Amino acid sequence: MIYLNTASSGLISKDTMNASIEYVRKHQDLGSEFINSAMFEIPQNTKQALSKLLSCSTENLAIVPNFSFGVNAIINTISQLHKKVLLFKDDYPSLTLPFTLNDFDISWLDSVYDLERICDMLLKHNIKAIAISHVQWISGFRLDIHQLAAFCKSEDILLIIDATQSMGAMDFLLNDFDIIIASSYKWLNAGFGSAVMFLSDSFMQSYAPRIGGYNSYNFDSEHIHYEPSSRSYEPGHPNLNGIAMLGQAVKEKNEMGMDKIAQHNHQLISQLIQGLNEIKGVEIIGPSEMSTKASFVTIAGSEQLYNHLSKSDFVVTHRASSIRIAPHFYNTSEEINEILDSLDTFQNT
Ligand SMILES: Cc1ncc(COP(=O)(O)O)c(C=O)c1O
Repeated sequence: MIYLNTASSGLISKDTMNASIEYVRKHQDLGSEFINSAMFEIPQNTKQALSKLLSCSTENLAIVPNFSFGVNAIINTISQLHKKVLLFKDDYPSLTLPFTLNDFDISWLDSVYDLERICDMLLKHNIKAIAISHVQWISGFRLDIHQLAAFCKSEDILLIIDATQSMGAMDFLLNDFDIIIASSYKWLNAGFGSAVMFLSDSFMQSYAPRIGGYNSYNFDSEHIHYEPSSRSYEPGHPNLNGIAMLGQAVKEKNEMGMDKIAQHNHQLISQLIQGLNEIKGVEIIGPSEMSTKASFVTIAGSEQLYNHLSKSDFVVTHRASSIRIAPHFYNTSEEINEILDSLDTFQNT
């Protein structure tokens, strides 16, 4: 099998699987004797690994069950102050649906390729919040989020970034942003049940959270008392198993070096695009310049093409007449050549 489907779900390393087994075994053997300390230590260790990977403070990180939980938590929190928001119509439903269901006044972008147009829309309609993906799930288009963040900061616009299709695949700094959320089962290779949420100091100070549960607010005997803290976005007892897996997966990325992983992925995509451009009849979906690319490429593709690739043992995504090819650090240049050869054979027979 040649696995080129990390944009759907990332592979889990043996050590990450073992982190899960070890967690469950200790729970079985020791029950609360283990859990009482694990409840604090596992999230703390995972946040320390994440703070190294993402070059930010552990104080700005919350670990939540998935992207959807994170964005719904933010929506609850901001909805009394912001009702107008800018969204992209083809963005992932986990990002757009929560705004629709919560009766936001949504202005819809019909394209994300032109950053200037996005900024103009925000100004023209006096919109003070935007939620958008760093990397689009269908086309793999990568938005220049640093430029967008600088604009939003200058205009006092709240920026919420979905980094599910980039965190763990690309090296970027979080400190420019208000909110970044990423489910960790794809490029972070951590399996299901966790997501990383970055909250800026100014966001936490400006907005008191409107979600809650065990350990999420400070209590005294009479009052609920909010002290700005990412902990407020982690209500209730956490998914320690998923968080232990995330910790191990991130530790491995730190050992490999996020810059090296990003560089490797960049090279594979560059090779893939170059090769695709040389095959007659292949159409890349969306812009194909490397400055707009992340870690995957989508091409127009029929069911017959998908079947041809599957028969040759390639695992890719087939959706709505397109094929998404998504390599990660465990893929090689030889594997990219193999899929290019297979595509060439299909196109030319
Ligand atoms: C851009 C993007 N955001 C979010 C998600 C998943 O969100 P959740 O984990 O909440 O289902 C995906 C999954 O494909 C995605 O591509």
